[in-house]
Amino acid sequence: MPKSVTIYEKIKKFKKTIEVASDKSLSIRWALMASLALGKSRAYNILNSEDVNNAILSLKKLGIKIKKTNNFCEINSKGLNSFSYKNNTIINAGNSGTFARLIMGVLSNCDKQIVIKGDKSLSGRDFERVIKPLNLFGVKINSKNNKLPLKLKGTKFLRPINYYEKKGSAQVKSCILFAALNTNGQTVLKCKKSRDHTEKLFKSLNLPIKVIKRKKFDIIKIFGKKQFKGFDYKIPGDISSASFFIALALLTKNSKILIKNVNINNTRTGIIDILKKMNARIEIKNKKIYNGEYIGDIFVKNVKKLKSVNCSSSINSRMIDEFLIIFLICAKAEGISYFKNLEELKNKESNRLKIAVNFLKMIGVKVINNSNNLKIYGNPKLELKKNYVIKNYNKDHRVFMMTCIAALSLGGRWEIHDKDSINSSFPNFISIAKTLGAKIK
Ligand code: S3P
Repeated sequence: MPKSVTIYEKIKKFKKTIEVASDKSLSIRWALMASLALGKSRAYNILNSEDVNNAILSLKKLGIKIKKTNNFCEINSKGLNSFSYKNNTIINAGNSGTFARLIMGVLSNCDKQIVIKGDKSLSGRDFERVIKPLNLFGVKINSKNNKLPLKLKGTKFLRPINYYEKKGSAQVKSCILFAALNTNGQTVLKCKKSRDHTEKLFKSLNLPIKVIKRKKFDIIKIFGKKQFKGFDYKIPGDISSASFFIALALLTKNSKILIKNVNINNTRTGIIDILKKMNARIEIKNKKIYNGEYIGDIFVKNVKKLKSVNCSSSINSRMIDEFLIIFLICAKAEGISYFKNLEELKNKESNRLKIAVNFLKMIGVKVINNSNNLKIYGNPKLELKKNYVIKNYNKDHRVFMMTCIAALSLGGRWEIHDKDSINSSFPNFISIAKTLGAKIK
């Protein structure tokens, strides 16, 4: 199998209905919660990607019974504290920051040492953000420079904490909430806004959690040690995966797309708000609620002119994984777009701020990057004719997919390396693009 793809032609107009890969955040959270639930839990439509499969393999290594068929994934657990593994068991989180950070909270009361490792990209990412609060709970963690691989030794004498999470990271928040589940007592967490799937899942299982929403942050109060029963879950589509086809429809003349059954949780829909401000024709249809999560169909139609946007940083966490594709859309909009406080973008599967700046410059777009702020000088006439090669981007799945969308919508002759990166989150990205008419070899 070739490890790179070539795209030599723009996509022709398309009018289609598609479904995208299932939500990665919900798939991983379901697996973790099901491993703590008493009895059988089933997930339908769980994401079949490397990140989720690594989570499942790791949970199996920790003694949890898991069966996967074509239709569902079933976890059968004996409830809280039922992990069973040998001292120094190694689990491999692969590329997944979400799994690595959340499982650390889950294992906070296991007093057998566990080793957590990841791939090259994950081993370069910061873990101090979870080590700090876990230490306060009483967990011992051994690592070099707060990076993976690390050794974690939990304790049966875990204590609840009061903590202020300032980064707006749902991974940190969720790690703390999972650790709090293991304590006797109340944990109080003040946190900058971030996606709230964990809180929603806890609430849907009637766990004693209270969320007080303030303008800039939330206060979460949670009591631990409450056993809950196994539960079934139907995982909807991932808006982060949908975002690539939203962009393709927006940037391709006379095209429209309906993306069915996508999770449209308000903490994830920053991209829709921003695109509306940019004059995009984008609508949510058929909105319904399932286990506290909103789900809907996203309809997008190409418009003649997109406007630039001045993006307030208060929206950043609501579109944290969509920045790359939003930057690309801004490159084709009329006027200068502004983004601020993009620091967290440097801490993703790659340094996405640096990659975005280099990418936009390479395709002839003027950008000014002043520390963590970015100005993009859009050009509605942007068309590409040259040869381009993309490699050495830390196999960041979202860089690969954004580049394919740039090639399909702007033209040029492209060689895009590390195609397997899509296996992290969206393994059928290329086959869906082909059903829309994309020529990808
Ligand atoms: C995720 C949270 C986000 C996001 C990641 C998935 C999650 O990370 O970038 O892809 O499932 O909690 P941060 O919370 O660290 O910003």
